[in-house]
Amino acid sequence: MLLLRKRKGKNMTIYEAMNERHSVRKYTDRPIEAEKIAALNEEIAKINAESGLNIELILDEPKAFSGMLARYGHFSGCTNYFCISAPDGRDEDVGYFGEKLVLMAQTLGLNTCWVVLTYSKRAVPAKLREGEKVQAVIALGYGEHCGRAHKNKPMEALCACDGEMPEWFKNAMEAAMTAPTAINQQAFKFTLEGENKVKAEATGARYAKMDLGIVKYHFELGAGNTEFEWV
Ligand SMILES: Cc1cc2nc3c(=O)[nH]c(=O)nc-3n(C[C@H](O)[C@H](O)[C@H](O)COP(=O)(O)O)c2cc1C
Repeated sequence: MLLLRKRKGKNMTIYEAMNERHSVRKYTDRPIEAEKIAALNEEIAKINAESGLNIELILDEPKAFSGMLARYGHFSGCTNYFCISAPDGRDEDVGYFGEKLVLMAQTLGLNTCWVVLTYSKRAVPAKLREGEKVQAVIALGYGEHCGRAHKNKPMEALCACDGEMPEWFKNAMEAAMTAPTAINQQAFKFTLEGENKVKAEATGARYAKMDLGIVKYHFELGAGNTEFEWV
């Protein structure tokens, strides 16, 4: 995988990417380099083959993000985005696999923002197959700034376990809490059952399943080498 050389001379890892990622809605006109586009397209091809989703990288298309004037969700300068299409009912996969691209983009020094509401769906030139709809887009590019950390609910409100919390579970929870969720709702709960079984639940309504896929990907990364089973 292509990795960004950071100022300190270290490569940005996927773990650093989780902490450094924040939603960015204002983009500069700096073009995305051809080798980064190629690396992202290569990853998209793998993800599409594995998941059956239909993800496309759409470049130089200004209309999807040009019409929204509302305070929340207003974008400027965004002409590049991932478009994730799938039949209804696949929200968790949309979240899980889309977040892989979000964190990969972050390791490449790019900024992102998940978007399900504040864009013009009609303007997206998606190549839809039978039964598919555009389920989400993810803004992509060089941000005017790198965003800022969201507020978190207390960890106790987002998880449960009997007895003392194992270190790996705490690390996984911390990683899950860096994840983006729709309107920062953090409507999820992870329950440790026994030593290595984890139940993940969406506790909200709208887009909570998409959020769940996103936070599950972060949780898996945060768990590191510890083996656990989703139940
Ligand atoms: C499934 C999903 C849908 C989202 N939809 C929108 C949207 O329509 N417009 C927008 O501006 N931000 C949207 N966001 C971004 C969230 O507002 C943002 O992730 C959240 O406030 C947490 O902030 P952070 O991403 O900087 O950590 C969405 C995020 C997710 C995960």
